[in-house]
Amino acid sequence: MTNKTVQSVRGFVDILPEDVWKWRFIETTAREVFQLYGFEEIRTPVLEKTDLFSRSVGEATDIVGKEMYTFTDRSGDSLSLRPEGTVAVARAYLEHGFAKNRPESSFYYLAPMFRHERPQHGRLRQFHQIGAELFGIPGPEADAEVIALQADLLSRLGLKDFSLVLNSLGCRVCQPQYHQRLVNFLEPLAPQLCPDCRRRIQSNPLRVLDCKEAECQSLLRSQSVPRISESLCLVCQDHFSELQAILKTLELEFILDPFLVRGLDYYTRTAFEIYPGRAGGRSRTDAISAGGRYDELISELGGPSLPAVGFALGIERIILQLPELPPPATKPALALLAVGSSARRLIQKLARELKANGFPARADLKGGSLKAQFHRADRGGAELVIIIGEDEIKDQTVMVRDLKKSEQEKVPAKDIVSYLSNRLK
Ligand code: HAM
Repeated sequence: MTNKTVQSVRGFVDILPEDVWKWRFIETTAREVFQLYGFEEIRTPVLEKTDLFSRSVGEATDIVGKEMYTFTDRSGDSLSLRPEGTVAVARAYLEHGFAKNRPESSFYYLAPMFRHERPQHGRLRQFHQIGAELFGIPGPEADAEVIALQADLLSRLGLKDFSLVLNSLGCRVCQPQYHQRLVNFLEPLAPQLCPDCRRRIQSNPLRVLDCKEAECQSLLRSQSVPRISESLCLVCQDHFSELQAILKTLELEFILDPFLVRGLDYYTRTAFEIYPGRAGGRSRTDAISAGGRYDELISELGGPSLPAVGFALGIERIILQLPELPPPATKPALALLAVGSSARRLIQKLARELKANGFPARADLKGGSLKAQFHRADRGGAELVIIIGEDEIKDQTVMVRDLKKSEQEKVPAKDIVSYLSNRLK
């Protein structure tokens, strides 16, 4: 039997040490911006009851219908790895009494999400979102606030070129009328649409507008497809035009796209996506961020009628757009080498003391010849090496060697902290 090495699960990737600093940069910057905007961090479990997502994201959506990691646990309950964060945060908002005691609350999360999609560049099965949800404020000011937050975050990350694409999806008053118009328009075209779209005409007609198949796209673009903007009720029209006026005041550019729809059913009114580049070119796979308003979700989950708006940025997609950055400078590492067994114990003790004083000191743990220890220290990136041998033990000193300059000097053991502080400051 051959011993094949076990590999990671398709679409689930390791983030290696050489890349982790980019993640930390993004996460730290996001936390700073959220703090400036007064959003509080929330962490919800990766597993939720399947029902939570099917009820709110929508049974007929690709996310629920095709992409969830769902299983029955040992108690017979159907559970799913969360495919997105909004409904989990909404559940927590209700479960912990925020809806009742502090309806105007805003939360953010940095968390992994799971969707069984076809993995490709910028599309994974475990991916990470920076998300935010602002509850309790019905007006377009809240929509503009979360849009401004995203723009500020992206520009702090060094992403200057992006386009915000905007649409209104109407509310539960005007949506049904538009859906019917769309169904009436699409039905005669059904034979020319892809099998998925043929199904969607009844189950989720809006999604036909967003189909990735080139034939469906060109067919729809060539026809005078009914636009939601022509069906919006007065309240939705006012909301959408006021949002545009606020965005102009905030000097946030946007592109209106009457065909922008979202792959989750809970949205009402404002929907937006952010794409790399200035052209606003939309290809379903490359949105860096997306979100919108979902004023019915809280009541659909059994809570009071409370409005909400939010977004989620994909960290992997931000990384693809990040400008070339040098890795952050780290303090030069110190390696401690020993000759002889009593020195071995001493270097470990000294390394601990140095770490307590803030120096990244690493005692050689493997031993062997001094040459081998030097080689490891060099490979590990050490610039300064501290050596303790029999002589140093006898006269209570340590030998400090600069690997770059090939210079060395003896330092009294008791003075090593101040010596290093002076040298490395
Ligand atoms: P979404 O459009 O499904 O919305 O995902 C938001 C972002 O997550 C996308 O724009 C993309 O950057 C990233 N993303 C989605 N799927 C993948 C994937 N398979 N691989 C890599 N990145 C991906 C939501 O999830 C909503 N919960 C957003 C929201 C928050 N709406 C209101 N509040």
